[in-house]
Amino acid sequence: MSAPRVLVTGGGRGIGRAIALRFAREGARVVVAARTSTELDTVVAEIERAGGAGMAAQMDVRDYGSVEAAVWRAVQFLGDAIDVLVNNAGVFDVQPIEKLEIAKWRWMQEVNVDGPLYVIKESLDALLEAEHAHVFNIASVAAKRGFPGNVAYCASKYALRGISDALREELAPKGVRVSTVYPGATDTTIFDRVPGAWDRAKMNRPEDVAEVVWAAWKAPAGAKIDDLDVPARAS
Ligand SMILES: NC(=O)c1ccc[n+]([C@@H]2O[C@H](COP(=O)([O-])OP(=O)(O)OC[C@H]3O[C@@H](n4cnc5c(N)ncnc54)[C@H](OP(=O)(O)O)[C@@H]3O)[C@@H](O)[C@H]2O)c1
Repeated sequence: MSAPRVLVTGGGRGIGRAIALRFAREGARVVVAARTSTELDTVVAEIERAGGAGMAAQMDVRDYGSVEAAVWRAVQFLGDAIDVLVNNAGVFDVQPIEKLEIAKWRWMQEVNVDGPLYVIKESLDALLEAEHAHVFNIASVAAKRGFPGNVAYCASKYALRGISDALREELAPKGVRVSTVYPGATDTTIFDRVPGAWDRAKMNRPEDVAEVVWAAWKAPAGAKIDDLDVPARAS
């Protein structure tokens, strides 16, 4: 298999950065997309040091026009086809229902649900152009069970799981694989501004999620890779 052509949203830090670098180590061409261009530029330099070829595509996944422009640039860089699309950009907050701000609810649905849907729609032609494309939607353990204070986040991740399940059925006949990834708590900046006593030492590393994505991309045809759990480490 030749070096994959990869688009990772939310590739400026955390899990997205780790996935971008995992593919870069195998010589992949990788576009990282997010809003903060300084972080993207740093990851592009890391991709190149790791042996890949990188490009930054600034985008706000909530804004269809921004997604359209960034995916267009990404596809030019990748050579008209996307082998691997990782819908990873996402946001998280904890608010009990009585304190849940409607603006926060909308923000989580816009980034975590609208965003992946926009990116998938804009990437579709390039995915179909590849011989064996693979879409990874980074959901969460919160797409499988509820947590207190997580009404908005769980709703968004269950919705992403629904998008994934339907898309898999729709694209399988066209040769595109769709996997949903369910990480447990992972030590990234996502927890920096969220209230709660987070024990970072017990969390996964972003590289744990990246390794699961890489292994699924390499899995032979027929392998069971629809749903990929990355459970939190045993304490
Ligand atoms: N960490 C965990 O415990 C955990 C567990 C399960 C699932 N997840 C999921 O894993 C994914 C990555 O999370 P992470 O922990 O790596 O978080 P992170 O460190 O906060 O990184 C999130 C990434 O998403 C990007 N992003 C946020 N809003 C965006 C927007 N409107 N448009 C484009 N990009 C945007 C951020 O870049 P900018 O801010 O520069 O745009 C950043 O690159 C998320 O979908 C999250 O829900 C995380």
